[in-house]
Amino acid sequence: MLLTSPWRADFPGILALEAQGQTYLDSAATAQKPQAMLNALLGYYAGGAANVHRAQHLPGERATRAFEATREKLAHWLNAPGPAQIIFTRSATEAFNLLAYGLESQFQAGDELVISALEHHANLLPWQQLALRRGLKLVVLPLNESGLIDLTQAAQLIGPRTRLLAVSQLSNVLGCWQPLDRLLALAKAQNALTVVDGAQGVVHGRHDMQTLGCDFYVCSSHKLYGPDGVGILYGREDALQRLQHWQFGGEMLVHTDYQSAQFRPAPLGFEAGTPPIASVIALGASLDYLAGLDNAAVAAHEAALHTQLLDGLAAREGIRLLGEPHVALASFVVEDVHNADLAHLLTEQGIAVRAGHHCAMPLLQSLGLAGALRVSLGLYNDAGDLQRFFAALDQALELLR
Ligand code: ALA
Repeated sequence: MLLTSPWRADFPGILALEAQGQTYLDSAATAQKPQAMLNALLGYYAGGAANVHRAQHLPGERATRAFEATREKLAHWLNAPGPAQIIFTRSATEAFNLLAYGLESQFQAGDELVISALEHHANLLPWQQLALRRGLKLVVLPLNESGLIDLTQAAQLIGPRTRLLAVSQLSNVLGCWQPLDRLLALAKAQNALTVVDGAQGVVHGRHDMQTLGCDFYVCSSHKLYGPDGVGILYGREDALQRLQHWQFGGEMLVHTDYQSAQFRPAPLGFEAGTPPIASVIALGASLDYLAGLDNAAVAAHEAALHTQLLDGLAAREGIRLLGEPHVALASFVVEDVHNADLAHLLTEQGIAVRAGHHCAMPLLQSLGLAGALRVSLGLYNDAGDLQRFFAALDQALELLR
C-alpha cells in the first residue's frame, strides 16, 4: 500500500507546491508551515500589531502575553526548568554568534574549543573566528566510517585544555544521531562548557534538556514548522549567568545614563531591539499543532518513509550514500555524474532537493567531494513524493550516463 501522510492536508504550502508541479524534498533546509501557524501570523497583524515589553496599552499587553506564551511552550517542549532559560534570537546562526561573543571572556590564549568534523558552518565559523581573535586552539573531532563522531579519538582529544565542546545532535548532511551522552560526559569531566546544535535534531522526536544535560542548546523555528526569523537558545541557569551581553539597545537594560548602563539578565537582556514578534507568536501555534499530533505515529511515518528512501537509493547502481543516515534525510553522489548536472535535471523535472556543500564545506572536502545531493523529509511527505523523485532520478541518470 502506498504510504500517505495524514497531516499533508494541514500544510497548504506542500499542496500549493504540488499544484505547481513541485515535489518538495528539502525540509532540512526549511519546512512547510501548518495552516494553524499561518492563521496565527495573520491573526497577530490583522488583529492589531503592537510591540512587546514596552507598552502599557492593551494591544501591547496582548502581544506581550502571546509572545511570552511561546517562550513557555518552548520551555515545555524542551523540558527546560523554566521559560527564563529560553532566549529568542533571529536565527540559530545568531544564537551561536551570541554564544561565541557572550562567552569570549571565559577563554584565555591556549585554551581549546572542540567541535567535530561534521559541523554546519553555523557551529563552526563563530568558534573558528573566536579562536582566531583570542589565540585559542580549535580542535576538530574526526568521524568514523558510519558518520559518527569517533568516541575513541574524542576521548583523547577532549582533555584538560578543553574549555568548550560544541557539537551537532543530528548532522544535516549525514542524518545520523551523534553519541551526545558520551561526548557531553567527556567534556563535563574536564569542566568544559557544552553546546549542542539541535537545528536538525529538534525536528525529530522530543528532547529533554534536563536529561541531556548540556549547557546550551540551539535550534531554529523555521525547520520546526514555524516561521523564519527566529532562533532559539536554551541555556542552563548557571551557564546563562556566564554569558556577557553582546547586542545593545532597546529594552535589554535596567538602567542607563549617557556613560554607562546596567543590563537585564537572560532572557530579555539578550533580546536587544524589537524582536520578531509575529514570528515568535506564530511559532507558538506551530508548537500547539505539533503537540496535538500523535508523536509515535509521526515517528513511525518518518521512519517508514526514510526506509523507502534508503531502499530506493540502494537499489540503483553507482549511488554512494554519505554516512549511514538514521532519520529524515539522505545525502548522496552518483559515480561519474556531476552533482550539479544531476541537480539541474532534477530541478527541470520539478524535484526540489538540495545540492551543494550543505553549509558544511569542510565535511564535504574531507569526504573528497565538492558537493552532494540531499533528499530530506517532513512529516507531510508521502510515498508519492518519493516515487516522483525516483522516476526523475532514473530519467536524469539515463540522460547523463
Ligand atoms: N542548514 C540548512 C540545511 O542543511 C539550511 O539545508
